[in-house]
Amino acid sequence: MKFLIIGDIVGRPGRHVLRDYLPSIIRDNDIEFVIANGENASGGNGLTYKNSQELLSYGIDILTMGNHVWDKREIFDYIDEEDRLVRPSNYPSPCPGKGYTIIDKKGINIAIMNLSGRVFLPPLDCPFGTFEKDYMQIKEKADIIILDFHAEATAEKVAMGWFTDGRASLVFGTHTHVQTADEKILTQGTGYITDIGMTGPSNSVLGVDKDIIIKKFMTQRPIRFELAEGPVQINAIIAEIDETNGKCTSIKRYYQLCTL
Ligand SMILES: [Fe+2]
Ligand SMILES: [Fe+2]
Repeated sequence: MKFLIIGDIVGRPGRHVLRDYLPSIIRDNDIEFVIANGENASGGNGLTYKNSQELLSYGIDILTMGNHVWDKREIFDYIDEEDRLVRPSNYPSPCPGKGYTIIDKKGINIAIMNLSGRVFLPPLDCPFGTFEKDYMQIKEKADIIILDFHAEATAEKVAMGWFTDGRASLVFGTHTHVQTADEKILTQGTGYITDIGMTGPSNSVLGVDKDIIIKKFMTQRPIRFELAEGPVQINAIIAEIDETNGKCTSIKRYYQLCTL
């Protein structure tokens, strides 16, 4: 089965570039399942109900989240009702929402898991231990297991790749908004990349207006963020997974620069 996995969608530019270009990417690459990280899709932080439905209508099958999951408060009201949305599983148990889901597509059961790292991020439950716990519940039910590991530190992400090697079909990193060039298939058959990057304004600092961020670094004062304008990039990976054994057979980076 062939997957397209899209890096953190940033604001309206990120949503609109997918509205305009996602159908042709799916068609031209024979994509059968689409996953996207939506933690920044509404104004750069969080995800409103309206924007989640908009993105799912463009051909995205599952939205994953990250440390910005709760930034739009309305998500508390709809996250339990939306089966196509997962948030990091290692948030404390009173949190609403779910850390993984299993979707039947063409008779193949696909588990999508979401975990957050703990290095330079809020001190959540151990992502490694949480993977272990969730995997025990998923492994007999899923033909394919895919993990979005939303984390900052490269070492934590690489370690998670090796920790899940041979158990997950594919582990991809999100959160840094910068795509890494280390995609590979690990020794036990797990496809891996440290970060798949960002889908949003290209001439920016991680999606935000570059002059605002430069000023913030130079003054060390809090400044209100605004998203950048101009050309918009799509960062993603295309991965093939053999559903008969859950192993990854191919993983490639995807980059496209678009004007809206
Ligand atoms: Fe992000
Ligand atoms: Fe993040």
